Amino acid sequence: MGARIVTFVNQKGGVGKTTTAVSVSAALGRRGQRVLLVDLDPQANASSAAGIDGRDRNGVYEALLEEVPATDCIVRVPGDQFDLIPSSSALAGAEVELVPAMARERRLAAALNPLRDRYDWIFVDCPPSLGLLTINALTASDSVVIPVQCEYMALEGLSRLMETLELVRRALNPGLSVLGVVLTMFDARTRLAQQVVDEVRGHFTTQVFQTVIPRAVRLSEAPSHGISIFQYDPGGRAATAYDALAGELLGRVEVPA
Ligand SMILES: Nc1ncnc2c1ncn2[C@@H]1O[C@H](COP(=O)(O)OP(=O)(O)OP(=O)(O)O)[C@@H](O)[C@H]1O
Ligand SMILES: [Mg+2]
Repeated sequence: MGARIVTFVNQKGGVGKTTTAVSVSAALGRRGQRVLLVDLDPQANASSAAGIDGRDRNGVYEALLEEVPATDCIVRVPGDQFDLIPSSSALAGAEVELVPAMARERRLAAALNPLRDRYDWIFVDCPPSLGLLTINALTASDSVVIPVQCEYMALEGLSRLMETLELVRRALNPGLSVLGVVLTMFDARTRLAQQVVDEVRGHFTTQVFQTVIPRAVRLSEAPSHGISIFQYDPGGRAATAYDALAGELLGRVEVPA
């Protein structure tokens, strides 16, 4: 069957989409899985966190809008064991340039489908919006992982996200499922964080991964060095948590949705 395509999505900004996408890619790569990460965010945070400068090379913009084959947009991430299709600031224009394009919602699906037999996992990191780029990711994907930050108003916006998933199922991609909800930036010292965990588990029940990602300064430092947490702080709390999450992802594949 080939790669499962999984999008990290939440239109709320700064909830840990990119950190989770990069860390899970590195974790599964280290476990011997063949992983491709697609940076679909014009902010290019995943690309820079992986130490890749998306300027002056083909990336996801060229694959979406200039008919460059996705195979020609792949770069191996140095030091970590996964591949990347980088973003660049040109992607900011794609949201507008896609509007009049043919099959505008299916561009990413068309670009990624030929890559399915080369990988076990293709992950997509989304911008914090529900615009055409995110719709492309949802149309291309088998499932989504929703990072939720353990902060005040954690559930805010999630009903709108669920509505969007339902609209995409009806119009574009009937097979789209929720692989899971991951709680991020958990601070054990605050009562609020535990309240959020309880609230999210109450709402999403078994969809919530057992692994909770701790708030860890090392995770916020690693991107500026262009390396994953598995190189920056191997064996630390954050690396251990993301490796456990990767293990849960592997387990969930074996159980059909
Ligand atoms: N568990 C964590 N502990 C500490 N800092 C974290 C953690 N997870 C993420 N961060 C930091 O929080 C900020 C937001 O995280 P991240 O970029 O992963 O979120 P995002 O959802 O991708 O944001 P955006 O919506 O802008 O794309 C970043 O500076 C990141 O380094
Ligand atoms: Mg991000």
